Amino acid sequence: MAANCDSAVVKPGQRLGGTNFSRGRELSRRAHALIPGGAHTYAKGDDQYPELSPAFIARGVGCHVWDLDGNEFIEYGMGLRTVTLGHAYPRVTEAVARHLPLGTNFVRPAPIEVECAERFLELVPSAEMVKFAKDGSHTLDGAVRLARAHTGRDFIAICGDHPFFSTSDWFIGTTAMKAGIPEWTRAHTVEFHYNDIPSVEALFDQYPGQIACVLLEPARLEEPHEQFLPRLKELCHRNGALLVFDEMITGFRWHRSGAQHVYGVTPDLSTFGKALANGFALSALAGRRDIMRLGGYDHDRERVFLLSTTHGAETHAMAAAIATMATYVEFDVVGHLHRQGARLRKGIDDAAVASGVSAHFQCMGRDCALLYSTRDRDGCPSQEFRTLFLQELIRRGILAPSFVMSFAHSDADIDYTIDAVAQSLGVYRQALDGGVERFLVGRPVRPVFRAIG
Ligand SMILES: Cc1ncc(COP(=O)(O)O)c(C=O)c1O
Repeated sequence: MAANCDSAVVKPGQRLGGTNFSRGRELSRRAHALIPGGAHTYAKGDDQYPELSPAFIARGVGCHVWDLDGNEFIEYGMGLRTVTLGHAYPRVTEAVARHLPLGTNFVRPAPIEVECAERFLELVPSAEMVKFAKDGSHTLDGAVRLARAHTGRDFIAICGDHPFFSTSDWFIGTTAMKAGIPEWTRAHTVEFHYNDIPSVEALFDQYPGQIACVLLEPARLEEPHEQFLPRLKELCHRNGALLVFDEMITGFRWHRSGAQHVYGVTPDLSTFGKALANGFALSALAGRRDIMRLGGYDHDRERVFLLSTTHGAETHAMAAAIATMATYVEFDVVGHLHRQGARLRKGIDDAAVASGVSAHFQCMGRDCALLYSTRDRDGCPSQEFRTLFLQELIRRGILAPSFVMSFAHSDADIDYTIDAVAQSLGVYRQALDGGVERFLVGRPVRPVFRAIG
């Protein structure tokens, strides 16, 4: 089956990428004077990319993007994993365009809100009710509030091996960037380890009758050990806590019905976003009717302020989600993501062996959403080598903070990428031998979560 047929294609002999980023740099100077950090999302910031990189993306089609200086790239960030079908996927943009002239936000709900909920619950049958919002953080905040209200407890247990759940204090307070977050909030989020049932048991022992929910991504880099998720659910319920899955990344990527379908474990609540509307802002909190309905008013318990945002039900975002979900039903999108990811992974692994860097550079995670690790001569994780690898890929036309697949990545894109990775790993080898500073232009990238500047 063909991928997104309208995506840009690499022509034989074509060279992508470049080293002239002057117009982007100029705009970046203006951005930093106006916007703290120069970007509205930390993950897109200048400190996440090498100095020799496009500061702005002007447009994208499929998995190709163009920067302000006219350089073209094949990319693997895909809108922070939101764009699973490809940039400007016609079926989605046409659905949005059809809705825009009808008005986008009204004083009472639009009919499309019901249609979108029906389509979502057909795809994620383990959920009985759903409420939409604009971003993942809000849906997780809703899950936490609901769990606290339902159980009458204050503590939240989160998986400490998973890097991000919400922009809210209950999560940010656990990171290195905890300035401005009250002690009570920080003290009431506790951490366990993935695939480690004893670490969860220890929390239930330490805080008996006090943990409202256990929250994790059903999988991230590691697959769950057999029985980990079923035992986790059983342990939560035995201790009166709810099990919450954050499916922001796994949803519509591991499977069109979520990782909960792949692993056969239905959580009490789960959250979706990112891939739900192919880059348009829509997220979802879904789950058990008896818990979700506390956010409504057909019950006699204390009401919960679940999710309610001014922009939460914009009609064009719902139209985008319906078109995206229909594409998942019509085509084997998830199969494509896994197939192309497996091809790319094999090509990269072979190139790493051929360049003699396989002890220092590795692909990790599920084929549909690969990450990579970069290590220095001593085998220590290295931001300098990450920056060098990014820099060399960009020079060769690949923008890859990760290797996140989309339906638009064609065989030609993957082949081109493998070639660029092989050349970049050749430079990596030289840097291992001769010193990374001889090859890296400018300062290295830095982690988002750091305490000081
Ligand atoms: C696993 C996970 N959960 C939650 C979120 C928060 O989503 P949002 O940025 O839409 O608020 C993210 C964002 O990257 C995420 O990766």
